[in-house]
Amino acid sequence: MQLLQLLASAALLAGSVQAHVRLTALNGDTGCVRFPPNNSPVTDVTSNDIICNVGGATPAATVHTVAAGSNVTVAWEAGAHHGPELIYLAKVDNAKTTAITGLSWFKIYQAGLMGSDLHWASAEVDAAGGLLEFTIPAGIAGGQYLLRGETIGLHVASSYPGAQFYMSCVQINVTGGGSATPAGVSFPGAYVGSDPAITINIYYPAITTYTPPGPGVYSG
Ligand SMILES: *[C@@H]1O[C@H](CO)[C@@H](O)[C@H](O)[C@H]1NC(C)=O
Ligand SMILES: *[C@@H]1O[C@H](CO)[C@@H](O)[C@H](O)[C@H]1NC(C)=O
Repeated sequence: MQLLQLLASAALLAGSVQAHVRLTALNGDTGCVRFPPNNSPVTDVTSNDIICNVGGATPAATVHTVAAGSNVTVAWEAGAHHGPELIYLAKVDNAKTTAITGLSWFKIYQAGLMGSDLHWASAEVDAAGGLLEFTIPAGIAGGQYLLRGETIGLHVASSYPGAQFYMSCVQINVTGGGSATPAGVSFPGAYVGSDPAITINIYYPAITTYTPPGPGVYSG
């Protein structure tokens, strides 16, 4: 009975304050974002939609220039479901015209459970009005990249497919920088449905540690 009550109140909470979301801007610029046609999640980690979301091969209008070593901010719609926040980069020759398959993605940021109360990174972003700030590594090679910003809704992830993947790719141009070309992973391929970071009951028993899926973060 206690468990059922817990699940019911969790579901109620999820229904009242949480929603499907899209990444809408980088440093306030919406023109560089490959915006998916709707806010439905991707749930099949083997689909090409896991790369840059549905329609993610379609170029956005602009390429946003940022300095290596600087902080940038992406904006999410409000009310993401409980889960981690992840940012990847893939070096490309031309951020507008590049194919999205066959790229090598390295991770530059991730957050799962945060603070002493173990709140989700998505809640931290919501509390910041949808804004997530992270650092473009100082030592990476200058040039154009696709930036893949992702949040994963784990509220219905106890069986696969269940986890809800929300991501957009952003066209950026990194100035300055060094010569580093970090090793990366492939999408699809980097995630598997059996990963305990993807197929997980976040409500019961209470989890105290969580490592987001995919590779470790490139430390620069
Ligand atoms: C850059 O962002 C990180 C979070 O990834 C933060 O810890 C740091 O304080 C920020 N730096 C500046 C100068 O705002
Ligand atoms: C990237 O930045 C460099 C240096 O400012 C500039 O010369 C180049 O035109 C920029 N490329 C794009 C696509 O914005």
